[in-house]
Amino acid sequence: MADSAIEEIKRRLDPVDVIGQTVQLKRAGRSFKGLCPFHSEKSPSFVVSPERGTWHCFGCSEGGDIFSFVQRRDNLDFPEALRLLAARAGVEVERISRPDPGVREQRDRLHALVEAAALFYRSALTSSDGGRARAYLDGRGLVDATVERFGLGYADPSGRTLERHLLKAGFPVDDAVAVGALGRSEEGRTYDRFRDRVIFPIRDGDGRAIGFGGRAMRDDQQPKYLNSPQSELFDKGANLYALDQAAGPIREARRAIVVEGYMDALIAHQHGFANVVATLGTAIGERHIQTLRRLAPEIVLALDADPAGVKAALRGSDVASDTTADESPTILRVRGLGRFFADRRTEIKVMLLPAGRDPDDVIRADPALWARLASQALPIVDFVLHGLAQRHDLSASAGQREAAREAMTVIQDLPDPIERAHYIQRLARILNTREEFLLQAAGTRPRRQAAVEAPVAEPPRSQGEQLGDLVLALLLRAPSDATRPEAADFESAEHRAVYERLGRLAPPSNADAALDWLAHELGATFAPTLVRLRAAYDENERLTLDEASKELHVRTLELRKQRLFRQHQALDSALREDADRLSAAERRAYEERLAALAAHLGALFVEQQRLGVVGSASWSVRRGHEVLSPEVVSG
Ligand code: UTP
Ligand code: MN
Repeated sequence: MADSAIEEIKRRLDPVDVIGQTVQLKRAGRSFKGLCPFHSEKSPSFVVSPERGTWHCFGCSEGGDIFSFVQRRDNLDFPEALRLLAARAGVEVERISRPDPGVREQRDRLHALVEAAALFYRSALTSSDGGRARAYLDGRGLVDATVERFGLGYADPSGRTLERHLLKAGFPVDDAVAVGALGRSEEGRTYDRFRDRVIFPIRDGDGRAIGFGGRAMRDDQQPKYLNSPQSELFDKGANLYALDQAAGPIREARRAIVVEGYMDALIAHQHGFANVVATLGTAIGERHIQTLRRLAPEIVLALDADPAGVKAALRGSDVASDTTADESPTILRVRGLGRFFADRRTEIKVMLLPAGRDPDDVIRADPALWARLASQALPIVDFVLHGLAQRHDLSASAGQREAAREAMTVIQDLPDPIERAHYIQRLARILNTREEFLLQAAGTRPRRQAAVEAPVAEPPRSQGEQLGDLVLALLLRAPSDATRPEAADFESAEHRAVYERLGRLAPPSNADAALDWLAHELGATFAPTLVRLRAAYDENERLTLDEASKELHVRTLELRKQRLFRQHQALDSALREDADRLSAAERRAYEERLAALAAHLGALFVEQQRLGVVGSASWSVRRGHEVLSPEVVSG
């Protein structure tokens, strides 16, 4: 039935939000985990994957998508669950109750039309008419590979050629108007919307063409950028330029960087900063953030450090839930984003560019500077506090008041009272005033309820445990001829148990199936272990088979080294404690064993060096009273 409505709902709703209403979820690698709501348990075996849009419980082996979750949770049939989630996603129920198989076909047709227009513009760029546009792009520092990769094009000044082309190709003129490829005058005459402009085709996250940005090539041509109008395909409040190219790199980098301009995004990609996307001439809004946070835990807004601009970014109204602003350039608005910290799932940061400079200039002049500024990005609140003195005259009371108001609007968005208190304290120090005054001045504004409460902290896992998780996860991934550890290499009994079971499994074609099988074999007490393995697996999913093999080899060496090191230490302290009671022969036996362990450790160290890796733990061993470094032992 209403297939596109279901997809639309899944696109709009983040499973972590939906499920997070009833289950406290905590990040575990690229997934989230919590206590399964469908069976009783003390440690989490319930996993939600925002990327896949799925949930799964290793304890009771239930799983599915948001629809099946809500069905089970609220005991609903599918149409009821659909209606509930549709309302939440803001998708029309009408469209669902009167299933319209035409909706999807219509969208496909519109995509095809925009794609055809993109191709047309693209070939115009390489034609003899496209010389000026090519020169323009060249002057902006874009190389051919980038121009081709992003399918840039040229719209000639005639105002007729695209229309002619589309009609000849059989596209209905109404469709072309609907997606804004053509405009229609009051008298009903149609014309090419983009004239004498360089064309930036805009695609959705799946790479389907949805609209265009067109840049003027002369200063006297207005507006500087003309964009497609809001349409069934083109939604400025949700889409981001270059997202189709950037999604993979954003996942890998675990960070998305948001810039304002198409040019900025293109230049960033051209210089290898492929985790960059741009807004489409609007402020960044809730739905942009929703899209990005599904890909990475950190979102960085690149902001011009010009104090006036920053003030404006902070003053900007709360992030609109639906941003459909005008075509004028907008800054990245910072205010109102704080509530996305609520679930501690997303960190939104700000990277400051030298005043008056675009990402475009910065990257072209000094790519290393860009990388450095990105790595120095500050969490929003720190960023706000940091610059107060530059933006306001803190020696005057008016300046103080402004500064207090600016900072408090952001601080009050913070969901955690302890964190809030911390920042208020810092603010009081910066402004040289008392905390009570700040609280009074700001008034008590009720905060939104966090979708996902910060859960109780778990004890951090030791390095050895993490390494064990990783090696097991890599075993799920690596080909059968890859290096394998021995069961005894694992420090923890649970890892050994998993490893032994895994050895009995036919080579797992699919990690999900293997983990389910393990859950079944090992029982509920192992659920937390399997949840961690799944997280470690997800982290390494992008490795090729070759890379996974190599990684497994390297990590297995490290695991073995740590095991030998533990043995060495135990033996060494036993030798010293028992020194008096040992016969000379026993003593020699101990020492030989110690020397053998040291030699073995040294050999592993040498192999690690050969592979170009250094073990995670630095170590040394004793021989008698001497402490030996790895180099000495292996040398
Ligand atoms: P800017 O005016 O900051 O330009 O617009 P820019 O990105 O530095 O562009 P170049 O370097 O001069 O080519 C930033 C973004 O704001 C939107 C566009 O999305 C643009 O990429 N914009 C700008 C418009 O929609 N309309 C305009 O008239 C100007
Ligand atoms: Mn620019």
